[in-house]
Amino acid sequence: MALTSIIAKRKAVHGQLVQQQRRNEALEKDMVQLEALANLGSATAMIAHEINNLLTPLTNYAELSLKHTDDRELAERTLRRTAKNCRQAGKVMESILSLAKAGCGEKVVIPLLPMVNAVFDCLCRDFTKDGITVELLVSADLQVYASPVSLQQAMMNLVLNAREAMIPHGGKLTILAQADNDGTLIKISDTGCGIEQSEMSRVFDTFFTTKHKKIACGELGRTAGSGTGLGLALCKKVIDAHGGTITVDSHPGKGTTFTITLPKKIIVR
Ligand SMILES: Nc1ncnc2c1ncn2[C@@H]1O[C@H](COP(=O)(O)OP(=O)(O)O)[C@@H](O)[C@H]1O
Ligand SMILES: [Mg+2]
Repeated sequence: MALTSIIAKRKAVHGQLVQQQRRNEALEKDMVQLEALANLGSATAMIAHEINNLLTPLTNYAELSLKHTDDRELAERTLRRTAKNCRQAGKVMESILSLAKAGCGEKVVIPLLPMVNAVFDCLCRDFTKDGITVELLVSADLQVYASPVSLQQAMMNLVLNAREAMIPHGGKLTILAQADNDGTLIKISDTGCGIEQSEMSRVFDTFFTTKHKKIACGELGRTAGSGTGLGLALCKKVIDAHGGTITVDSHPGKGTTFTITLPKKIIVR
């Protein structure tokens, strides 16, 4: 083959390579944009889920207050809850938006017990009304290194799931937390319906839910039966962002335990 024709061929191949590279770069840019859009989509769905958790008790309180307009104490309680949950909703927005950016909010060393108590305050539900006893085995001096708002949201989802799993028969919810060598271990156990073996690997998946039917469950708690399948996905995202782990152990008909580990603060000298 003549030298000129070899050179021409090489030039043509080189031109094709450059073109291919440009196409690849453009595709990569598209991918980044698509990923950002997908993140935005799942963040929006998560925000809706969390805000719904905060709004539902308010709707119930407001409806009850409207039925008893002369009950001043109930009206006051409703307003106090409204103010509190609205403040919390603002914090949830901040936290979820930081999660969407793959961060987890600023981590601080905080006592765990007040946060666990805040979860129950925030839910505004009397668990005993559903025949559920709550046992908190969390010592007052136990501290965790975490983003308070994110961790509280994760715990709230686990508590709500445990409650929904025990309705209508009631049962026991236990939250146990202790320090271990690497950080903190938190176990949230219920004696509810449990999870089928075939579903265990899917419970942390986004949009996986088995709550399709509406279940009546008392005058101030009617969210059971309206699953979105985002609660555990959010929990996993929060715990992953903390460098921790979340696992599940369950026995159908007996109950479920979620175990969280959170690493301790590493002090760099
Ligand atoms: N404590 C629990 N007991 C029994 N099943 C549970 C429990 N927690 C989660 N699940 C199962 O995992 C699924 C996903 O939970 P989640 O992501 O919180 O979504 P949702 O509560 O909206 O269905 C639930 O629909 C349920 O089947
Ligand atoms: Mg849930």
